[in-house]
Amino acid sequence: MRALEVCFVPGSLVEAQLREKTAVVIDVLRASTSICTAIQNGCRQIVPVPTPERAFQLKEELGDEEILLCGERAGMMIEGFNLGNSPAEYEKRVVADKTLIFASTNGSGAIVKCRSAAETLVGGFVNATAVVEYVNTSDRELGNDAARTARLLYNSYAPRLAETVRDCDHGRYLVSLGFGDDIASATALDDNGAVPVLRDGKLVAA
Ligand code: MLT
Repeated sequence: MRALEVCFVPGSLVEAQLREKTAVVIDVLRASTSICTAIQNGCRQIVPVPTPERAFQLKEELGDEEILLCGERAGMMIEGFNLGNSPAEYEKRVVADKTLIFASTNGSGAIVKCRSAAETLVGGFVNATAVVEYVNTSDRELGNDAARTARLLYNSYAPRLAETVRDCDHGRYLVSLGFGDDIASATALDDNGAVPVLRDGKLVAA
C-alpha cells in the first residue's frame, strides 16, 4: 500500500524526501489553472522559474522569438511580461506552439522545488480526475494528518466549491483586483483533461 501525503505550503516540503515520490503541485488560485489551460491550448512547453528576474534572464539565454513571459507578482502582470496569471489569457491563439516562461508568487517556485521528485505533476480542480487517473490512487492510503485534513475539508466544502474559494483570503484579494472571473475558471471541476508533467525542467502534456 502506498501513502498519499499532503503539504499545505511549499515551506514544509523537504526536497530530499521527494526523491522516490510523485509530487502533485496544486495552486488552484491561479497558477495550476493557468498552466493546465495553457497545456490544453497547445503551448509547446512551460518553464517554471522562481522569480521574474530569472524569467528575463532565461529568455535572453534561449533567444527564441516564440517565448512568452508569464506570471504575476501581487496578482498583477509583471512589467515587461506578455501575460499575467488569469487562465482566460492563455487562449489557444495566444499560446499555441509557444514556449512559456512562468513566474508566479508561489506556484512556480513550488514546482521548481519539486524537481527532485521521481515525477512532478501540476493539479487543480480543473484537472482533478485526470490527475487522479494518471497517478492511479486506488491503492493509496492517507499518509499524514494534512492528507486527512484535506479530505475532510474537501468533503465539507465540495458542494459549495466556487463560493468557498471566492471567500478565502486570496479569493477575496483577486476579486478586489477585478479577477472574480478567475474563481469560476479555477473551480470548474474537471473542465480540463490536461496533466502537466515536468520533464527536464519543462512542463509538457503527460
Ligand atoms: C501563485 O502562484 O502564487 C498564484 O498563482 C498567485 C495568483 O493567483 O496570481
